[in-house]
Amino acid sequence: MKLQAIPRLSLGYLPTPIEKMERLSAELGISLSVKRDDFTGFGGGGNKVRKLEYLMADAVAQGVKVLITTGGHQSNHARMTAAAARKYGMKPILVLRGNRPDLYQGNLLLDHLFGAEIDFLDPDAYFTEINPRMEHHAAEAEARGEKAYIIPLGGASALGAMGYVNAVKELSEQYAAAGTPAPRYLVAPVGSGGTLAGIHIGCSLYWPDTEVVGIAVTGSAVPFSERIAVMANAGAELLDIDRRWTAEDIRIENDYIGRGYSIPSDEGNAAIKLAGNREGMLLDPVYTGKAFAGIMGCVEKGSIEKGSSVLFIHCGGSPALFPYAGLLTSDLTG
Ligand SMILES: Cc1ncc(COP(=O)(O)O)c(C=O)c1O
Repeated sequence: MKLQAIPRLSLGYLPTPIEKMERLSAELGISLSVKRDDFTGFGGGGNKVRKLEYLMADAVAQGVKVLITTGGHQSNHARMTAAAARKYGMKPILVLRGNRPDLYQGNLLLDHLFGAEIDFLDPDAYFTEINPRMEHHAAEAEARGEKAYIIPLGGASALGAMGYVNAVKELSEQYAAAGTPAPRYLVAPVGSGGTLAGIHIGCSLYWPDTEVVGIAVTGSAVPFSERIAVMANAGAELLDIDRRWTAEDIRIENDYIGRGYSIPSDEGNAAIKLAGNREGMLLDPVYTGKAFAGIMGCVEKGSIEKGSSVLFIHCGGSPALFPYAGLLTSDLTG
């Protein structure tokens, strides 16, 4: 099936702009542009809006009444899914990793404002309990006669990945209209891997000479390169294209995770301050700050060559800045 034939709802404010980063380019010695997918807008914006355009089309077609997904306390994906559920008259249920906090901050506050039912799962039980718990909520809804739909962690599925096939198509059209050649590197953070899977498919179709670089922001039991190859292959099947990937085709940088998912790193925090100070651009401590630190690290090591053109996909996430206010202001004295 052609991309245009896959049902899609319009949720985001697309196309998002591409911003040339003159000051950071000069400082890092590369030609840096940023695809501002933090400005997709809907539900506070971010990369998951693009995935949800496809996943929600499927859910709406099935007459879904209860939309269930999962993530961490500060999951941007859960927040945007809750907003999308409300937009289409569904009830959002979020199974979140972490105990119920005293103060709802950042994305958690927004989840609450979107009226999501939040089921807090003890962090130790999360990885074994996550699927049974979502299925339990689905079974309860079905018993009430309400059709339920489960979106996996991060919206990471072949259908969700179509959002980033569409994003690369959009990018290639923007570059062509501006008369700019395709970038040498396209860089994005990797959390669940769905975004990168879509980017790989999109680049194979629209920008075959661009190298895709994923910066991991979390560890993974099955290496990301394998998981993403499997997801990209499933997406290619959906699109009826012959291209297939193996783990060797998927470049993942694993040196910028720090101590783990959602634990801010010194390099990531420094990148947040650099982007804010040089360009007035907000990054966040969970995803984009670490990913940007990855770009800087690769340039320093030479695995992204000086002078090359680099396009960074800014996936959003600024609501998660606020819960980390204490850490991000630890340089203040007095
Ligand atoms: C701001 C931000 N950046 C990057 C990602 C990672 O995207 P993916 O899960 O598709 O790898 C996410 C996922 O939640 C995100 O919220």
